[in-house]
Amino acid sequence: MTFFRTFCINALLTGGIEDVTFNLDFLDAITNRIKTKDGGWSDMITDRAKDIPPFIVMDVLEKAQEMERKGQRIIHLEVGEPDFDTPSCIKDACLKAMKDGKTHYTHSLGVMELREAICEHYFNKYGVTVAPDQIIVTSGTSPAMLLIFAAIMNGGDEIIISDPHYACYPNFIRFLDGVAVRVNVYEEEGFQYTPEAIQSKITKRTRGVMINSPSNPTGNLLSPERMAAIAALGVPVISDEIYHGLVYEGKEHSILEFTDNAFVINGFSKTYAMTGWRLGYLIAPREYIRPMQKIQQNLFISANAFVQWAGIAALREAAADVERMKKIYDERRRFMIKRLREIGLGIRVEPTGAFYILGNIKSFSADSYKTAFDILTATGVGVTPGIDFGTNCEGYLRFSYANSIENMAEGLDKIEQYFRHL
Ligand SMILES: Cc1ncc(COP(=O)(O)O)c(C=O)c1O
Repeated sequence: MTFFRTFCINALLTGGIEDVTFNLDFLDAITNRIKTKDGGWSDMITDRAKDIPPFIVMDVLEKAQEMERKGQRIIHLEVGEPDFDTPSCIKDACLKAMKDGKTHYTHSLGVMELREAICEHYFNKYGVTVAPDQIIVTSGTSPAMLLIFAAIMNGGDEIIISDPHYACYPNFIRFLDGVAVRVNVYEEEGFQYTPEAIQSKITKRTRGVMINSPSNPTGNLLSPERMAAIAALGVPVISDEIYHGLVYEGKEHSILEFTDNAFVINGFSKTYAMTGWRLGYLIAPREYIRPMQKIQQNLFISANAFVQWAGIAALREAAADVERMKKIYDERRRFMIKRLREIGLGIRVEPTGAFYILGNIKSFSADSYKTAFDILTATGVGVTPGIDFGTNCEGYLRFSYANSIENMAEGLDKIEQYFRHL
């Protein structure tokens, strides 16, 4: 076998393109390795790549899109993406930046003017002072999460997350050889963490507590009292503030109002309807910036230049657009809560932020994955199974109201019929 491998590798090194194709097939035949659909070798795929779970909502969306391509009408209540167009002041700033030649790499920490605008935003909104050298601008919030987890965790270190949680948190943590330690949060408590439950999970290996308020998937906010109590535990808090700006009752708070021992991740995808632009940022204690900057330089170099200039316009010029969208989301939120209750999907504590509602389906089904795909196949309505957000979210479906009232009305009528005929 070794002889054959050496022979083939030599042939590969000396041969032309056709030889390479021929010899790869030959190598495949003599080593009995299984070729994957995309032409790779199955036994060369790492455990890291094999083990990362799918982001199930994307699987639902992709199946829904396949049905759409076949001509079926689909109503999307699964996807966490604004249906609004990006405000025109943001698009104009992007076009201007392109015309002005902002088309090259930027500083790896991000364009200074954008970092200054972020400082201004945090000061005006929360009264907290952060400096531009505490900020790294990233291509979406997801890379910011990667930089933070990579900088604070060695293999085997632990991050505490709630269950339900944003689907990707534990996947990022595990991908970096860390351990996600889950704290169950409950519907009757408005899915809010209790500081006592977090305290009971703190060990010598705990490197951070993840909070996300308003939360995906629950749409609930953490009260300022609980945020203060969590900050007082003395463990660094990683606060995902991506849904700030989309709060319909009460007020959102930044973790930086309560402690400096914190990492903030935030982005433009949701509040400014900019999912496709890929723009986000992190705010961190100064000593972590250089290590994370080095990761950014190696993995991403910098965020997209002209998109960063668009981000400045979002922060400084789009407040009226955000208000307009927020008002519409709020009408949809009220409509959806009412309809879900009529259908019998109990909602004990009304969600007041983001654009999600968790509907309790426990009296109909114990398998949210099967139910979500059944609903899609039977009715053409996309919904997200609770299991995507943790085992404690089994028995729920997540509904997104980032869709028009007309579409939601039609989709929810179909779902009502589905549950009636179970
Ligand atoms: C809680 C939360 N954090 C982060 C993200 C990722 O957002 P981005 O588009 O900025 O990568 C999402 C996207 O759905 C989210 O819901």
